[in-house]
Amino acid sequence: MPLQSTLTSRVADALAAAGIDRKFAVVTPAADTRFGDYQTNAAMVAAKSLKKNPREVAALILAHLSVEDLCETPQVAGAGFINFKILNAALADAVNAIRVDERLGVEPAVTPQTIVIDFSSPNVAKPMHVGHIRSTILGDSLARVARHLGHRVITDNHIGDWGTQFGKVIYGWKHFLNKEALEAAPIEELVRLYREVNALEESNPQIREAVRGELVKLQQGDEENRTIWKQAVAYSWKEFERLYGLLDISFDECLGESFYNDALGPLVERLLASGVAEISEGAACIFFRDIPSLEEKPCLIRKGDGGYLYATTDLATLEYREERWKPDSVWYVTGAPQQLHFDQVFAAARKLGIKGDLRHVAFGSILGEDRKMMKTRSGENVELGAMLHEAMERALAVVVEKNPDLPIEEQKEIAKIIGLGAVKYADLMQHRLTDYLFSWEKMLSFQGNTAPYLQNAYVRIRSIFRKAAESGVSTEEAAIIIQDPAERALALQILQFGVVLHSVLEDQRPNLLCLYLYELANNFHSFYEACPILKSEGAIRESRLALAEVTAKVLKTGLGLLGICVPERM
Ligand code: ARG
Repeated sequence: MPLQSTLTSRVADALAAAGIDRKFAVVTPAADTRFGDYQTNAAMVAAKSLKKNPREVAALILAHLSVEDLCETPQVAGAGFINFKILNAALADAVNAIRVDERLGVEPAVTPQTIVIDFSSPNVAKPMHVGHIRSTILGDSLARVARHLGHRVITDNHIGDWGTQFGKVIYGWKHFLNKEALEAAPIEELVRLYREVNALEESNPQIREAVRGELVKLQQGDEENRTIWKQAVAYSWKEFERLYGLLDISFDECLGESFYNDALGPLVERLLASGVAEISEGAACIFFRDIPSLEEKPCLIRKGDGGYLYATTDLATLEYREERWKPDSVWYVTGAPQQLHFDQVFAAARKLGIKGDLRHVAFGSILGEDRKMMKTRSGENVELGAMLHEAMERALAVVVEKNPDLPIEEQKEIAKIIGLGAVKYADLMQHRLTDYLFSWEKMLSFQGNTAPYLQNAYVRIRSIFRKAAESGVSTEEAAIIIQDPAERALALQILQFGVVLHSVLEDQRPNLLCLYLYELANNFHSFYEACPILKSEGAIRESRLALAEVTAKVLKTGLGLLGICVPERM
């Protein structure tokens, strides 16, 4: 158990013994490490609710608190904080325990949940835009963390494989498809068709009619159009898969919008019959007269012309997920502009009797140098594939410069790990709701809060190990000893791993893990400067080596949970 959790339960016991509610027992790392390593404001919060003097409550808690095995005698400070300074021996014990723990001190969630994570969800025949890139990276890392904490996770890629774009695509396919281009770069070719027809349509009403006709035929099940549609989806999917492969991202399910087609009609009829939906101006709508923010924003589920909408599909999808997985929670990792859509869908879901926790895991945009939503130079959406290749190329230039003597294959392999890691990390290290400025220089820098910096910290430790092995030093028999302040700081940070992972899931914020790893790497560097490893001797050398070893393990595991790999050298 992380020390923070042990202290929390000790404080809870003391509160209970003093006749105070255990719920006030919150222990956090100390804000000011001069006074201790951990602190609790339990006395202040409890005093407020009991209308008592906080310092008196603190004294009462201390009278019942038993922590002699863990820390120096706790002190009350300021308005009633209780500070804990962990004993070196207790700290060493805790890190020694983590060293031999496969889970590195991370305890599984107390109540494992079934969580469906809906993420990535690009649209067929449209390029993935930065929103899909963020969703893909964020969703994958949340899935990894949730699984690591013992939740049952179902990842579902809700591909946009149905919709009005197919009228244009089919029309274009029939009139100006370039087969070779389709084979070589399917999404690009489909997008070209889409764009070309789109432009033609604007100036030519006859074409517009013809495009509509193709869409209607597709919807009515016309054989030829369905074949074209299927092929377009298959070609796009092939390219998406290639990108997911490159990013090492996989899905349990890829049930696109089309999967729910047959469910839409009956769903709407059922909702009308039960009175959940009603006809208004020819359309089927769900009204939320009891929700002030949605009072004037009914959820449209069937248009006047009989067409179904994005929200209709989402409701059908939700029913399907309920039926199949009975999730405790469904997370939609989708950009902030879809907030209203999800507010409506979630409110409608309540009316359908769906009780689980539904969350829109929203995020901001990636901005280009002009501080507007990032676009390519020609004003188009940035294509994920192109972005990843540029990342790897730029990283290769750095690797070649740093390691000119490595064989090119190895240079490329390292560049892939650094480049892809840099793109993912630049995204994940931001609070998901902030819009952030995309900068190759920043994300590929070996300094600062970046993937290369963390990967480099890992690589440095590995190289210490190689050197140690050469001189016959091993950590097999080592016991960690904590003496130096830099050793303390590093050990305390290692112990927080198990706390941080849980906090990532509280509000779906992988940036907390990024910050944690960054600080861990910083702590390691300070330790490395203050405490010579290979130049020290005997038990101290082994202990420091062991401390470095745990650090490397936590770095590797933590980055892995962000979907980022580490090289052995770089
Ligand atoms: N395909 C949608 C888009 O590109 C995202 C889908 C998100 N998931 C969902 N269940 N609505 O905007």
